[in-house]
Amino acid sequence: MTGPLLELDRVTKRFGRVVIAEDLSLAVGPGQVVGIVGPNGAGKTSLFGLISGDLAPGAGEIRFAGRTVTRLDAAARCKLGVGRTYQVPRPFGDMTVFENLLIAAQQGGGLRRRASYAAAVEALDRTGISGQANVPAERLGLLQRKRLELARALATQPTLLLLDEVAGGLTDPEVAQLVEIVRDVNAAGTAVIWIEHVVRALTPVVSRLICLAGGKFVGDGDPATVLAEPAVREVFLGTEVTAALAGGSLEAGSEVKGDGAVGGERSNP
Ligand SMILES: Nc1ncnc2c1ncn2[C@@H]1O[C@H](COP(=O)(O)OP(=O)(O)OP(=O)(O)O)[C@@H](O)[C@H]1O
Ligand SMILES: [Mg+2]
Repeated sequence: MTGPLLELDRVTKRFGRVVIAEDLSLAVGPGQVVGIVGPNGAGKTSLFGLISGDLAPGAGEIRFAGRTVTRLDAAARCKLGVGRTYQVPRPFGDMTVFENLLIAAQQGGGLRRRASYAAAVEALDRTGISGQANVPAERLGLLQRKRLELARALATQPTLLLLDEVAGGLTDPEVAQLVEIVRDVNAAGTAVIWIEHVVRALTPVVSRLICLAGGKFVGDGDPATVLAEPAVREVFLGTEVTAALAGGSLEAGSEVKGDGAVGGERSNP
């Protein structure tokens, strides 16, 4: 395919008087890895809703893999290759990990029985949860739940993977493991858009960073350049990351203190 994998063309969405997307235009190429940061309530999760089809835009057009998907629902877009994780994981708690993946592959990915088994096994393998295959999802700890959420998205066979705060609440070594998984997924050709407050999770893997605030893009480009922009710093003013930004060091292992969160409190555990 030539041209962008995903295109948003002047997309606008309001909830009453709250503007969560204001005239947003965006193009993401096949295989690209894009990070999204922004304060709480910026509209990040809502942007994923617009891309995945969980939310319908008030105006504008969305194209995926060369076709207009603006009016397609989430199930149809998933079958076309848009996979997403949810900020609050949504597994079927009383089903096993493997059953959850089979459902994702069949219902989400539209795969038939034999192909869905192969997709579920591959997703287990890629996310390192093969040992938990027969465990009910509700019995998993936080890291394994995050991995299952990622595995569920992978089982749908996405060409675009939307990750919504999968690193929140994890320790540094756990974040590093997650980054490796995302890197492998991307190396196999899947484009990734990754919303994360934990900037140190993004910097090793994203080539492009977008900052969203008040439903608008206030920065878009090379991560270090974007994080140094005055408009982006303004958004993060008063947060712990401001000190790190002032130091100019934004690589993994930099001076970001505490949990490395940007934009104040996280809503995720
Ligand atoms: N279904 C809805 N109905 C009304 N308002 C909503 C709805 N979903 C989100 N909002 C509002 O839209 C704004 C953007 O929310 P969104 O969840 O997209 O932000 P976010 O950037 O993902 O925030 P966070 O970092 O806390 O996850 C918020 O003010 C939120 O309260
Ligand atoms: Mg969110």
